[in-house]
Amino acid sequence: MNLEGNLEKIREEFPLLSHYTFFNAASQTLPGKYWLKAMRECLQFQESGRIESIPVPDVASHPFLTNVFFSCIEEAAKLIHAKTTEVTNMYRVMTAANLIVNNMIEWRKGDNAVFTDLTYPSLVQILLNLSRRKGVKLRRIKNVNGEILLEDLEKNVDDNTKLVVVCHTTPFCGFTYNMKEVCRITHEHNAFVLDDAFQAVGAIDVNVHNDNVDFLITGSYKWQCGPEGAGIFYIREDLIEKINPLFHNYIWADIPGGFPFNQPDHDNIRSWDYPLVKNANRFNQGVCVTPTLFGWNSTLKFLNNLGIRNIEKRVRKLGGYLIERLKDINCKVLTPADPEKRHGLIMYTTGSHKRDLESFNMFQRPRLDEKPIKVSIRYLGGIGGIRVSTHFFNTEEEIDRLVEVQKRILK
Ligand SMILES: Cc1ncc(COP(=O)(O)O)c(C=O)c1O
Repeated sequence: MNLEGNLEKIREEFPLLSHYTFFNAASQTLPGKYWLKAMRECLQFQESGRIESIPVPDVASHPFLTNVFFSCIEEAAKLIHAKTTEVTNMYRVMTAANLIVNNMIEWRKGDNAVFTDLTYPSLVQILLNLSRRKGVKLRRIKNVNGEILLEDLEKNVDDNTKLVVVCHTTPFCGFTYNMKEVCRITHEHNAFVLDDAFQAVGAIDVNVHNDNVDFLITGSYKWQCGPEGAGIFYIREDLIEKINPLFHNYIWADIPGGFPFNQPDHDNIRSWDYPLVKNANRFNQGVCVTPTLFGWNSTLKFLNNLGIRNIEKRVRKLGGYLIERLKDINCKVLTPADPEKRHGLIMYTTGSHKRDLESFNMFQRPRLDEKPIKVSIRYLGGIGGIRVSTHFFNTEEEIDRLVEVQKRILK
């Protein structure tokens, strides 16, 4: 779809855009009419009767008995260029990360895990707990001016490394990895890459096969423009049958003939004693909620219809425009300027924390006659300031407005 030509129509999907100047997708997106409608439809469905589409009546209600569960997988696979067998639905990034680190990887004493000082704190907490419980050694790479250097990754990954945990786009300064290189370096030592792509999917065209990533996780409610409480779990095809997850869900046993509940010889061991399905659903933890899946399904369709390459082009262009305008008013941009190393998640500072904070507060209500400007204030790994997210629905005029208000505050 030609996004520029259809911008007015696209913006109508986000009614709050007429009340805010919104640059906060890296925190939480604005509600979209498409997913609110889908979730309402689901609730109406539930109010009027059952929604499962399975042939066996009278089994308990589960999200994975709906077509929508599988439609989300199909649409998500399309978005990240995966096979449908490599994708399942998750609740949120934290849930998926815990699953991979604690339920899927077998750790031995002497193993190490590599992360960086820009890795999202919840992932680091999972690794710290792992280190305390299993004696796994942790190696933290320090950023250099908001970038993680590949040469530092090379120095830290060795034959005892089991897992490298990175955020595809770092949440607080927007540095975006060359994931193909990260995977190449890691795979030379037979270790896995866990790519937390929550700040990348929905903004740029993430191609899991191109990157050759082992695991990718993302949520629904940031650049993906969906409701909270859904997410994508990806595992590369060749790993699926090699990993026996600690967490099992009986529903994902590959039972010939379907669920045995209605059979007189139903036995709670024998009837379920089959290998797990040979797809990513064998890792599904049953943490999906049906109305949210309805909203997530419509969100994924919305993004796929806009076209992720079109979205990426616009997000990068607006990010570049913002960087140039901020330089004009002598603000220091902390996100790498190289378009290959960033998208529309732009961090800048006025030069002092106090002034950044004052600016952030002022953006909430610039003047009585002006709309609030929604941005975040964030710090991590010695980098921080005001975080602005330019998404596909934003305009250059909105960026001009932000820069004008910032300029006024600096005076
Ligand atoms: C990169 C990244 N990962 C994970 C999270 C948290 O995700 P969740 O709350 O879904 O676990 C965030 C939230 O800001 C994030 O930026």
